[in-house]
Amino acid sequence: MANKTIAVIGTGYVGLVAGACLAFKGHKVTCFDINEKRIKDLSQGIIPFYEPGLEEKVKTSNLNFSLVNEDLLDGFEAIFISVGTPDDGSGKTDLSQVKSALDFVIKKSEKKKIIIIRSTVPAGTCTKLQEYIASKTEIQHVVCSNPEFTKEGDAINDFEKPERVVVGVPDISDSSLIDFFTSIYEDFIHKDNILFMSTESSELTKYASNAFLATKISFINDIARLCDKLNANIEEVSLGMGKDSRIGSSFLNSGLGYGGSCFPKDTLSLQNQANVVNESLYVLDGTIISNRIQIDYFFQKILNYFESKKLKKIITILGLSFKPETDDTRESRGLILYQLLLDRGFQVKCYDKMHLNLPENLSSLNYSKNMENALSGSNAVVITVEDNEFKKLDSSFLKKLGIKVVFDGRNILNGDHINKEIDYISIGKG
Ligand code: UDX
Ligand code: UDX
Repeated sequence: MANKTIAVIGTGYVGLVAGACLAFKGHKVTCFDINEKRIKDLSQGIIPFYEPGLEEKVKTSNLNFSLVNEDLLDGFEAIFISVGTPDDGSGKTDLSQVKSALDFVIKKSEKKKIIIIRSTVPAGTCTKLQEYIASKTEIQHVVCSNPEFTKEGDAINDFEKPERVVVGVPDISDSSLIDFFTSIYEDFIHKDNILFMSTESSELTKYASNAFLATKISFINDIARLCDKLNANIEEVSLGMGKDSRIGSSFLNSGLGYGGSCFPKDTLSLQNQANVVNESLYVLDGTIISNRIQIDYFFQKILNYFESKKLKKIITILGLSFKPETDDTRESRGLILYQLLLDRGFQVKCYDKMHLNLPENLSSLNYSKNMENALSGSNAVVITVEDNEFKKLDSSFLKKLGIKVVFDGRNILNGDHINKEIDYISIGKG
């Protein structure tokens, strides 16, 4: 493998993982960010978020950090752009961070570069960026798409052992581009599984993949609500479905629905992309609605229980991140439930073992890192994350602390077992 010189702009989960893993394999990588504190911390080996295995990779001597605007980019053959692409509030993707990263590349490059859009961007974005470059400079930079398929909490594994790498290039017959991507990815995957295609197809593959996974979750949640009505058990149904290899068992766990930095915004963005060209995505529309109502459905179960038992409204939420092994709370079901409960007059206590990255509007939210403290004095527990720690919850321990009911929002406990001592309420178990 010929080592490459690579720049990565944006040191969030996506950029930092890519930069560190490529540097670990021997490439010379510099990660850029506009956030001064982040660059200072990273230069001292301090990671701004929790991601298992990342700290060790970041220590490699091939990896450097720099503030955007400090250095010229001409030492680099290729530049990954992995800045945020949030929802603009109306479901449309906000590309302003990508645009400003691209402006930085244009301004600081005197030689031709391979510009790789790693952020999730709507189909057609790379083509538009290519046109934008042509309007700003004579230098013929090439814009490619290389979407990430990284699960937080397992991001290193996803980068180093991908099932496929998708690359969108403007000209599929350009062997120098094919050679470049093959040379950086063949350390991680057999070259037959590096899939070259048009930039539009590549961009859409990312959205279609995330939307499909989100659809599996919403579908099983729909069936779970039906199980509640028909006295069936969603775990048995899910097991029975998943054993069919055409269906597959992953992403068939029912619960409070999907959260995180990707599924919610990517499903909305895909819906928006279809609207713009007057196309309808009927299945995806349902996926989004189902995910929205699932949390209300569970919340109603909590309200009904408290009402029927005339219990004092004190409740403990276990888990505020959007899934296990992350400190990321973007679109977390726990935070949504927290707000719903507060609005209905509950006293809400919270537990999370992580030092959380909370959104600005909830930055003063008080949570305990000691589960027993968060539970004592409470009447009820709500599990919002499928964390291994919560799978071990013991009903005698809960009962001793005065807990009268467990609301299992991720269907991770054995209800029959818990039910012997305290009440157990889940989703889709009849
Ligand atoms: C990523 C992708 O960017 C997104 O498209 C994908 O769908 C999900 O994951 P993430 O890595 O979580 O997002 O990004 P984020 O945590 O928002 O970090 C982006 C970084 O880029 C920040 O550190 C920010 O300071 C930096 N940035 C932003 C720049 O360096 N330059 C800019 O112009 C804008
Ligand atoms: C996802 C994709 O998996 C990844 O490929 C993509 O690049 C980014 O988006 P991530 O958001 O990190 O990754 O988390 P993921 O593990 O996919 O979980 C997303 C949400 O779905 C979580 O809230 C999780 O609790 C929920 N989920 C997942 C379910 O409710 N049921 C399941 O069966 C699986």
